[in-house]
Amino acid sequence: MSRRDLPPHVVEPLLSEETVRQRVESLAAELAQVLPVDPVVVGLFKGAFVFCADLARALSRHGVAPELAFMVLSSYGKETQSSGRVRVALDCDHPLQGRVVLLLDDILDSGRTLDFAVKHLQAKGAARVISCVLLDKPERRQIPFEADFVGFSIPNVFVVGCGIDYAEQHRELPFIGAVAFTSSGEIGR
Ligand code: IMP
Ligand code: MG
Repeated sequence: MSRRDLPPHVVEPLLSEETVRQRVESLAAELAQVLPVDPVVVGLFKGAFVFCADLARALSRHGVAPELAFMVLSSYGKETQSSGRVRVALDCDHPLQGRVVLLLDDILDSGRTLDFAVKHLQAKGAARVISCVLLDKPERRQIPFEADFVGFSIPNVFVVGCGIDYAEQHRELPFIGAVAFTSSGEIGR
């Protein structure tokens, strides 16, 4: 689906670039208190790729030297509703036996993705899995799962930007915006 096939919508700013930057920096400071010097960061792609890149560099400013690994789990795809099923589309091939893993995702929503990911990484031998999300929508939880570290708690709105998409659109936006559907007209920002 290309951008012009999507229903008309606008992206309304929710968290500015500077607000996100400052929070990623303070998250790194908090994480540096509990992480060993050599954790393995596992980012869930594609959504967490910007958060991973930003947080990895922020961690280095706080004396943490992580190894970086990635994993792709099934996600929303083209819809704004979750299918309720999680599957491994591309597994993490990084050795995790006995390692402290920092698991990163863009958004904690129903909780299914992170619940699955934590168990999956534990099954691969991780000594400890610490979960951290840029955004949390507590109202949307379907199963009991809480992240160890949360960047921002947000209301039940559909968001894009900083790696987060709507049908593969808007990942490149440097801020977090809320998608608002309009009755007609151009897709705007
Ligand atoms: P969960 O398994 O329901 O917690 O889903 C988490 C995943 O759903 C996130 O990693 C996102 O990929 C996706 N998701 C949840 N909310 C949004 C949103 O507002 N915009 C875009 N993707 C979202
Ligand atoms: Mg995702």
